[in-house]
Amino acid sequence: MARLNAAVLPLCVALLAFSLAGQSAAGRYYSDQVQDKVRKEVEKAMAYNPSIGPALVRLVFHDCWVNGCDGSVLLDKTPTDGTNTEKKAVNNIGLAGFEVIDTIKQKVGAAASCADILAFAGRDAADILSRGNIFYSIPGGRKDGVVSSAAAADANLPESTFDFGQLQTNFAAPGRNFTVEELVVLSGAHSIGVAHLSSYKDRLGADATPIDSDYQSALAKATPPELLGKGQDPTVPNNPRDASAAFQKDAAYDPAAVGVSPTRGVLDNSYYHNNLINKVLFKSDWVLRTDGFAASKLQEYKDNAAEWNSDFAAAMVKLSSLPAQGKNLEIRKNCRFTNQQYYY
Ligand code: HEM
Ligand SMILES: *[C@@H]1O[C@H](CO)[C@@H](O)[C@H](O)[C@H]1NC(C)=O
Repeated sequence: MARLNAAVLPLCVALLAFSLAGQSAAGRYYSDQVQDKVRKEVEKAMAYNPSIGPALVRLVFHDCWVNGCDGSVLLDKTPTDGTNTEKKAVNNIGLAGFEVIDTIKQKVGAAASCADILAFAGRDAADILSRGNIFYSIPGGRKDGVVSSAAAADANLPESTFDFGQLQTNFAAPGRNFTVEELVVLSGAHSIGVAHLSSYKDRLGADATPIDSDYQSALAKATPPELLGKGQDPTVPNNPRDASAAFQKDAAYDPAAVGVSPTRGVLDNSYYHNNLINKVLFKSDWVLRTDGFAASKLQEYKDNAAEWNSDFAAAMVKLSSLPAQGKNLEIRKNCRFTNQQYYY
């Protein structure tokens, strides 16, 4: 064991986690080859780089919210948009996981669209990150779009500074039809992953929307807002549960004391515990407390972890089913480029 390569260790930890969740070391078994290949690659990528899991879950949201689930978020260049694709949108800051999708595409070839690969990869990431508590089946058959615009992504994706009404309108928009309950359910994805200082800088000043003062000073200490003026934009974990012991001390955050399981990186209902004590990062998280119905849902999901797991899975199914909006849909050969240079 002492001579074990450092790169192998995380893999052992991951395998242990799978067996604890009652799954085989190879993970879920799917009856189709494409899904099996996606699963294997996602497990591998997450074992070597834990930040990939949250990135894949977020990618599903950012793909499906803009023109439906059409793999448009994966494009580096298109005939109509040039290189000014969704990846360049301000609201897509920090987006990652593209290399994993590329690797999977190389393995499955023409058998699956990039949009399908992304939906399956996000599903598997949610399963693994939740220790098997969040699992859902989704059909394949999505097609890839040939349009991807940074402006469209910025116009469609919600912003961290939105108030409750803006979030509600954004989720209920035609073609989406997501309820306030689903808004509250899906926001629980902020129990995992990281955010850049520029996404929560509004939470650090004296005029910030309500935020616990210890948590606020811990954030300001870890990522001083002045850094933005020096061209730096560092990150912190979305969930104080995932922060260092030193940060947790500054933030007066003791997971056990607030009813949160202390294991870092798990996709669970800890977001609701944190929100109800004002220890969430974004204004868009906190504002869910300002609506009576949304606030009652925060309480419900805090009190009932199993209900959140199953409602989150159902909302992810709905998200992963938003139909592609564009014309000239295809199955891309390379997830970063459309198949043709021109479309008529
Ligand atoms: C309700 C409106 C939402 C807003 C305003 C919002 C905003 C944000 C922002 C600003 C970040 C940090 C980006 C950065 O600075 O790097 C982020 C991260 C993240 N969001 Fe959301 N989000 C919302 C909903 C969702 C939904 C519906 C999901 C998935 C179902 C999701 C999953 C994530 C994940 C997993 C991360 C961490 C990503 C990583 O670590 O790579 N978010 N979100
Ligand atoms: C919107 O969703 C609700 C359920 O959440 C459903 O009853 C209604 O038919 C849907 N409307 C459209 C236009 O899809």
